[in-house]
Amino acid sequence: MIHTEDMEFAPRVISPENTAEDGDTEVTLRPQSLHEYIGQDKVKEKIAVYIEAAKRRGEPLDHVLLYGPPGLGKTTLSSIIAHEMGVNLRVTTGPAIEKPGDLVSLLTGLSDNDVLFIDEIHRLSRPVEELLYPALEDRVIDIIIGKGPSARSIRMDLRPFTLIGATTRAGQLSAPLRDRFGVIERLELYSSEQLTDIIRRSAMILGIPCESDGAAEIAGRARGTPRIANRLLKRVRDFADVLGNGQITREIASIALSRLEIDKLGLDSLDRRMLTMIIKGYGGGPVGLETLASAIGEESVTLEDICEPFLMQLGFLGRTPRGRVATVLAYEHLGIKPPESGVKNDGQLSF
Ligand code: ADE
Repeated sequence: MIHTEDMEFAPRVISPENTAEDGDTEVTLRPQSLHEYIGQDKVKEKIAVYIEAAKRRGEPLDHVLLYGPPGLGKTTLSSIIAHEMGVNLRVTTGPAIEKPGDLVSLLTGLSDNDVLFIDEIHRLSRPVEELLYPALEDRVIDIIIGKGPSARSIRMDLRPFTLIGATTRAGQLSAPLRDRFGVIERLELYSSEQLTDIIRRSAMILGIPCESDGAAEIAGRARGTPRIANRLLKRVRDFADVLGNGQITREIASIALSRLEIDKLGLDSLDRRMLTMIIKGYGGGPVGLETLASAIGEESVTLEDICEPFLMQLGFLGRTPRGRVATVLAYEHLGIKPPESGVKNDGQLSF
């Protein structure tokens, strides 16, 4: 999903958000089984047990909440869960369910033990969310028929189903909704080794000749995110076709990624602008997110959801009660000399 504000500019190659261009390839590359799914080992192990147990009992899987930064495979994992359970998957998003009636038709259209996947579940409207509570807890929905004084409510039973909710912002979920999920799992950013395996697998499926070193070069700059890794693979392929003989080598990958202004660690120009502004504009911080966002002319949600998880993972950025701070590592990466007195806010980092 692209925020409309971003559409005025070319979408960033390393935005983890799903773009129209990712659509078809993402489906082609999507693993079908937990066995094929690379990374997230702890989550995978637990989910495998829950699936096996639910299948043995002939019951639906308990409701699952997946959270974590975008592009890590929440939708992919849901389609695997449905596939392994041997049921249908229905995919929608929080903002697409506009009225309670939309949710009623989704829920009543499910077959036994089907999976309903709601992406961006933190964006459900209040009335829709409230209709969901009894559906999750008691498998019933209350439908209001008629208007005014003659309106009455009828209770309808639903077939057994599993809701999988996904969100980048678990903190924005209301407590009553969060409490109705039996399984709550956080997806983590991927290691370079895992991303290398994902890129090699994708290259094989797409018929792109790719050396291990070439895959590793792309992986190291994909900011822990499979969606970005797969997108960079396609861009690097273009350079390999035009500048080389089609084979992705480390050298070609490095040239291509430099042209895309993605540095050795995967930072793009927005990440660098954000850190540079904290350092040069606000003496290293702390600076409030909104102030920072308007200083660099970006949406605060973009900085918060896209730049920050990765910059914090690298140890370049800290969040303190008074705002964002750049760490010594960020100064060093940008080639800026840290102040003689030391980076004043390092002691307060709350990672
Ligand atoms: N493609 C995107 N994410 C993947 C994953 N986690 N494993 C395998 N292929 C993927």
